[in-house]
Amino acid sequence: MKPRFKLALFSAVAAGLVSLPSQAQSPAEKVYVPHGKYDEFYAFLSGGFDGQVNVYGLPSGRHLKTIPVFSAYPMNGYGYSEETKAMLNTSHGWIPWGDSHHPELSQTNGVPDGRWLFINENNTPRVARIDLKTFETTEIVEIPFSGGNHASTFITPNSEYITAATRFSVPIPQKDVPIAEYKKYFKGTLTFVRADKPGKMDIAFQILVPGYDYDLAHCGKGPSYGWCFFTSYNTEQAHTLLEINASMKDKDYIAAVNWKRAEECIAQGKYKEVKTKYAHNYRPEDTRIARTEWKTSVKWIIPKECPGVVYYLPTPKSPHGVDVSPDGKYIIGGGKLATVIPIHSFDKMINAIKNKQFAGEVEGIPILKYEAVNHCEVPNPCLGPLHTEFDGKGRAYTSCFISSDVVIYDYKKCKVLDRVPTYYSVGHLMIPGGDSAKPWGKYLLPMNKITKDIFLPTGPELPHAAQLYDISGSKPQFLLDMTELGEPHYAQAIPAKILMNKSLKIFELDKNKHPYATKSEEEAKVVRKGNEVHVYMTAIRSHFVPDNIEGIRVGDTVYFHVTNIEQDWDIPHGFAVLGANTSNLLIMPGETLTLKWKPEKPGVFPFYCTDFCSALHQEMQGYVRVSPA
Ligand code: CUA
Repeated sequence: MKPRFKLALFSAVAAGLVSLPSQAQSPAEKVYVPHGKYDEFYAFLSGGFDGQVNVYGLPSGRHLKTIPVFSAYPMNGYGYSEETKAMLNTSHGWIPWGDSHHPELSQTNGVPDGRWLFINENNTPRVARIDLKTFETTEIVEIPFSGGNHASTFITPNSEYITAATRFSVPIPQKDVPIAEYKKYFKGTLTFVRADKPGKMDIAFQILVPGYDYDLAHCGKGPSYGWCFFTSYNTEQAHTLLEINASMKDKDYIAAVNWKRAEECIAQGKYKEVKTKYAHNYRPEDTRIARTEWKTSVKWIIPKECPGVVYYLPTPKSPHGVDVSPDGKYIIGGGKLATVIPIHSFDKMINAIKNKQFAGEVEGIPILKYEAVNHCEVPNPCLGPLHTEFDGKGRAYTSCFISSDVVIYDYKKCKVLDRVPTYYSVGHLMIPGGDSAKPWGKYLLPMNKITKDIFLPTGPELPHAAQLYDISGSKPQFLLDMTELGEPHYAQAIPAKILMNKSLKIFELDKNKHPYATKSEEEAKVVRKGNEVHVYMTAIRSHFVPDNIEGIRVGDTVYFHVTNIEQDWDIPHGFAVLGANTSNLLIMPGETLTLKWKPEKPGVFPFYCTDFCSALHQEMQGYVRVSPA
């Protein structure tokens, strides 16, 4: 290279006009986001047994926010404030904990659109909607007739439905029966939840299926639009795994559900309306006070009475993940005890249905012949294949739990191309848009269950890890070990530029329809109604009005309705009262939150702002006097 040309190239690189080949950058350079710059992607990782969703920036791996969903969160009062308590109502009572597994971004034409994020609850079956304007949970629906909602919340291409399904078969309807009579009483349900209308999330229908364990799902797109696929294991219907009964069979099933056909059956009245009780909790945008609406029935579709709604695709040994390629043509199963990765062809499946290439049937559900639907088996991929994501360049990436690696292959030719190690025991993996019709690719994020020897020891419990790879080049490049909160199961990511402009900065005070909102200090007051005392309080840098409250007696119930009357971005105020058996509140500009307190002894109790808001934050305080009853 001539010196002058070299200099010109150097200047162009320095000016950011030309980027050097990606492998030329070190991992540290690739994950470093300089001060003043933003991350390229938002990543949403489920918190597993912490019940929440955790938001990270990629490629930096920085934790940006925890969005409380199924677990109460004292950091901001979610589940404790009067406005959010009802979000945790279920037909089993108020449950301040959940197990969240699979986040899924809303989609338009099969592409994540950044409106909402959905997430399932695995213990007390529920699904939730997070509004990505506010990064807050706004809606939760309980799933009746289900035991452990794991195959959830996978989405149809225009966010028509999110899926839910029984992981553990249970007596349906619930009753007191001997567990040994599993085969007689235990059933499964595949549930479709209407998801495209905020505030109206509800169970559209449930399909009653044999008592297997339904594990994961993904929905079709393009040619396979109108279908969703659910894995099932324990088709042996064993009720105790001590005998490893559930893995005896050579093949279990992927259930292919034609939800367009289900819609027809519903429209034709081919369903059974079944009485039950389940909660729909919704936090509207105007008052922001969550309410529970108790629903009283669901529609059941019985496959026998709606032929064509479900087919079983035999799939090797206890399939776990099921993933549909971006073109919608291939369905990849993750047989966790299998030595191959089975890839089914959607076209072949449709032909097999047309030509009645059945191997049998169970409860009105035809079982298709394996050879008739199988496109190929990826040979010797790894040990324990689980989940698959796609990079949009014809490559599939499957996580392998037992061999702790990710296998990369051409899913049309069924040819292994590469492998990358994971440390250790990878569960799900994520590529931005990697389960959608148009993957953004670029990064791969395997999420690992075991992290021995990677991080500083923190006693018997270590953090879970996710490992970031750059997959934009010809060879995957390892970039970063990220520590995670809880147990991340699955994740979604979306380019930052799609979301950041939608993100709300403040709640407009003018639009606050909370009945106890106090929009100026002049309106602040204390109102007694029998034993209830309502404090209409304002917070602004750096005082509360009123800040001296008297006339409260033991036996009263005090409601502090605190409105943050700031209208500047990122000026929350906190609120806490000495001895109040609840949590702190964290009130955003323009928002009203309510802390309920039943004082139990006389005295003068300080309250204060818990969030450092100004130079006079420490002075942002007051007293409430409690007199004997
Ligand atoms: Cu308000 Cu600190």
